[in-house]
Amino acid sequence: METDNIFKIIHNRRSIRKFTEKEITEEVLKKILTAGQRAPFAFQGWSVVYTRKREKMNLKIGVYPSTKVLMIFLMDLNIIGKIITQRGYDYDAEDAYILWLAIQDATLAAENVILAAEAMGMGSVLLGAAPKRYEELRKVFKLPPRVFPIVGLCLGYPDPEALMDIRPRYPLEYMAFEDEYKDPTDDEIKECMNAMDEGYITQGYYIKNKAKIPLDEKFGEDQYNYDRYSWSEHISRKLIHGIRGPLILEELKKAGFKL
Ligand SMILES: Cc1cc2nc3c(=O)[nH]c(=O)nc-3n(C[C@H](O)[C@H](O)[C@H](O)COP(=O)(O)O)c2cc1C
Repeated sequence: METDNIFKIIHNRRSIRKFTEKEITEEVLKKILTAGQRAPFAFQGWSVVYTRKREKMNLKIGVYPSTKVLMIFLMDLNIIGKIITQRGYDYDAEDAYILWLAIQDATLAAENVILAAEAMGMGSVLLGAAPKRYEELRKVFKLPPRVFPIVGLCLGYPDPEALMDIRPRYPLEYMAFEDEYKDPTDDEIKECMNAMDEGYITQGYYIKNKAKIPLDEKFGEDQYNYDRYSWSEHISRKLIHGIRGPLILEELKKAGFKL
């Protein structure tokens, strides 16, 4: 029974970008955050700041307006650094590797919160721009040195009128390899693209959301109208236009990491 339940929750989950007016109670919030804590950890290299205050959600990370609680998952070398100091030692590890672990600690905790929220009838969407807005988040949430945003999470109860479809994924055989990695052929890459593109076009996702990314003119004329514009074109456009905003490595250095 329990197993059925977790699979139902996982397979029914989709990102939710519109929420009802229903508030998330303190008790429910604590319950999903405690579930976050139960995730595996390397050294509990994470923490989370959350807010219900509209004015604190006024950030340049794309917070959806109906969000009831905004969480920012953080990688946190502040707490562990203090523990090491209290034990009378000096921290002396490779920050890049420790951050690598901390990112995983934070992300695993976030996924536990996401699934726990689903199990309690809530929905959520992650916000990937959080690390790009370090300065803003540092000020708003008073982050100390050696604490850095990994990802934002908008939470609330899903608006049934705005429920998105379940999104496709690549065929499993191109992502999960037994015994050895199998580098995809051109035809296999096409199959991956088709699985995604056909799924998104059928769902009409980009048309509904008017979510086309304009193509920089250096790439020539935009050949894609909404009939043909789909995931593989969209994700490519996200990654061909160069780096926008502050460089993460520079932001990490500002936060006191030695990289
Ligand atoms: C690291 C990360 C960052 C994301 N950032 C955003 C974001 O800024 N805005 C947004 O609307 N969705 C964001 N998403 C949600 C993805 O668009 C979504 O998970 C993906 O399209 C698959 O859809 P699904 O979650 O409905 O299965 C993000 C997801 C991840 C894992």
